[in-house]
Amino acid sequence: MIPRLKPDLSWHEIATLFKINKLDDVPEFECAFATLMGKKHAIFFPYGRTGLLFLLEALGISDQEIICPAYTCVVVPHAIVLSRNEPVFVDSNPEDFNMNWDQVESVTSSNTAAVIATSLFGNPVNLDALKDYMKKNPNVFIIQDCAHSYAASWKGEQVQKVGHAAFYGSNISKIITSIFGGMVTTDDSALADRLHYIRDKRITKSSFKKDIKMRLYLLGAWLTFQDSIYGFTNKLEHLGFLDHFIQYYDENKIDMPIDFLADTTPTQGRIGTIQCKRYSKILIGRKKIANYYNQKLRDLGDLILPSMIEGTTYSHYVVQTKHRKSLMNHALKRGVQLGQLIEYCIPDMPSYQRRTGNRMTYPVASRLSRQTVNLPISLSGSTEKASKVISTLLTFPFN
Ligand SMILES: Cc1ncc(COP(=O)(O)O)c(C=O)c1O
Repeated sequence: MIPRLKPDLSWHEIATLFKINKLDDVPEFECAFATLMGKKHAIFFPYGRTGLLFLLEALGISDQEIICPAYTCVVVPHAIVLSRNEPVFVDSNPEDFNMNWDQVESVTSSNTAAVIATSLFGNPVNLDALKDYMKKNPNVFIIQDCAHSYAASWKGEQVQKVGHAAFYGSNISKIITSIFGGMVTTDDSALADRLHYIRDKRITKSSFKKDIKMRLYLLGAWLTFQDSIYGFTNKLEHLGFLDHFIQYYDENKIDMPIDFLADTTPTQGRIGTIQCKRYSKILIGRKKIANYYNQKLRDLGDLILPSMIEGTTYSHYVVQTKHRKSLMNHALKRGVQLGQLIEYCIPDMPSYQRRTGNRMTYPVASRLSRQTVNLPISLSGSTEKASKVISTLLTFPFN
């Protein structure tokens, strides 16, 4: 079975699970990450959403409005609400899945404190539109959500380099992983000091038990994602046995995971450092598969392929079709698991329906939530496996 996602791990990551911890494992990862992103500071948190929560606190934003996409990971507005601010949603562009900048302009008011400029699925945020917005609204903080994009670039300029700060997620579904965790990067040393201060004050020290848990989790994930075993894993997932690991939200609740304040561990730091070193190789593999899909899947029924935007980093290769459910079932029967990553439009979720930041209609986000499907992309550049995915799609009766 070809899984819909898979952490890209080499024997270096597996070998480090058996090593003794060093005091500077996490600082080394922060340093490697800052260098990789071309930023002065990188601060590691238990989750990307914890990083965003503390970033808003460090920027002194409370009781204000923060603009974010209606079509993004729901944990983003969760962090905004839990920071005692109001998320104001805007619709998306059908071409790149990112936020519609005309709408960002139209909802900006004297209550707007920040914009979460998101590069969804690895598609770079339009930096021309963003810079134009920054010129017109110099008092609004720009926070880049790079959880999917890392160093995606727009016309050659990396997205994380524009704005006040950026945050990233690094769980095992991301381009590079630290098992769980998230980074915040910035060039602003005073902001970095405040983030360190808040982290030291609010995060509980990591325990040896958590470190062992992280090692076992990654080892388990590595085994589970082997093609020969994944069929069994998929059955367990179907029966609901894995909900504890994969259910990341409850549509009726705005909350955080129970361990969102439990510190990261040295093993996470070591894994992250190794992954930083392998980032460019991982990216080459993803781009190769994306190009291959784009060549071979043209003109197939109602299938809309992603616009091949230069500088995209392909955290996911996302197509659109009205036949999502039946296509996914068709592929599964043939040993290919497809994914539906963001299958909701946040303003339509019960927990956000009546919030004051839900103030327009979101037709594109709503359509994307029903029609997006992601194809396996983490195949270590293997076009043999990609061919299996392609032939599965080619045999689907689209019409
Ligand atoms: C677009 C986006 N932003 C932010 C996050 C937050 O990352 P984390 O799960 O580490 O809190 C995610 C997580 O998957 C995401 O997909």
